[in-house]
Amino acid sequence: MVYSSTGPWFLALFEEMNAVLGPDVSPERVVLTTSFSMEDQILTWAVLKAGLDVDLVSLDTGCLFPATRQTWKATEDHFGVEIRALLPNSKEVVDFTKTSGLSSIYESVDARKSCCAMRKIRPLKAACAGKEWWITGLRSNQSENRASMSNVEDAPDWGLKKFHPLLNWSDQEVQSALLKTGVPVNPLYAMGYKSIGCAPCTRPVLPHEDARAGRWWWEQSSKECGLHRG
Ligand code: ADX
Ligand code: SF4
Repeated sequence: MVYSSTGPWFLALFEEMNAVLGPDVSPERVVLTTSFSMEDQILTWAVLKAGLDVDLVSLDTGCLFPATRQTWKATEDHFGVEIRALLPNSKEVVDFTKTSGLSSIYESVDARKSCCAMRKIRPLKAACAGKEWWITGLRSNQSENRASMSNVEDAPDWGLKKFHPLLNWSDQEVQSALLKTGVPVNPLYAMGYKSIGCAPCTRPVLPHEDARAGRWWWEQSSKECGLHRG
């Protein structure tokens, strides 16, 4: 792959991507997942600028905020690309709605995790089949759990390796890259949301709270859904 750059901050990012993925990586064996977070927008910008034609996907759980959907559309328009929607199995969704109902997610961690398994894990596992690399926007300062991760991890459950290029970026570096790239930003950030997932499971946080305090806020769990180890 050939990377071109116009500034040192993303030169460093491109160099890291090149070093980890290797010069002979097949882009079709790389999946980049985006929830249209600030981090994911920077990574989308980076892979497209680098000319890496990776599998760019987003989990359309059926429970996204309208503002996230608008950001999805704005992102496709901005970059002139399609971001492939990964959908849950419709029969499973109907069965879950009939038997448990969405409100069950507030009643037990197990019920909540089965919703995540249906809407997130199984659709993404299918998309990961045959892939070698999964690029994510995880950062170590998002939670204690994520602070212990390394930027490259084996993910045997997923049958590939994960790469978190922004793992050690600070909030300030993210803000600066957003300004420099001019990528669309989910308007929910301006309303106090610091980490944005499905609407029933995400709320804004107070300035002193952790970024992920508004995710599954009613739980005392490690606040992971199974996409990333918790
Ligand atoms: S989550 O597991 O708690 O939802 P978080 O919102 O912090 O994760 O996002 C971390 C990374 O997980 C993102 O950078 C992205 O790679 C992936 N991810 C999370 N949610 C989605 C989604 N709806 N669609 C695609 N990727 C997602
Ligand atoms: Fe279901 Fe909430 Fe998980 Fe989304 S985050 S899949 S709504 S439990």
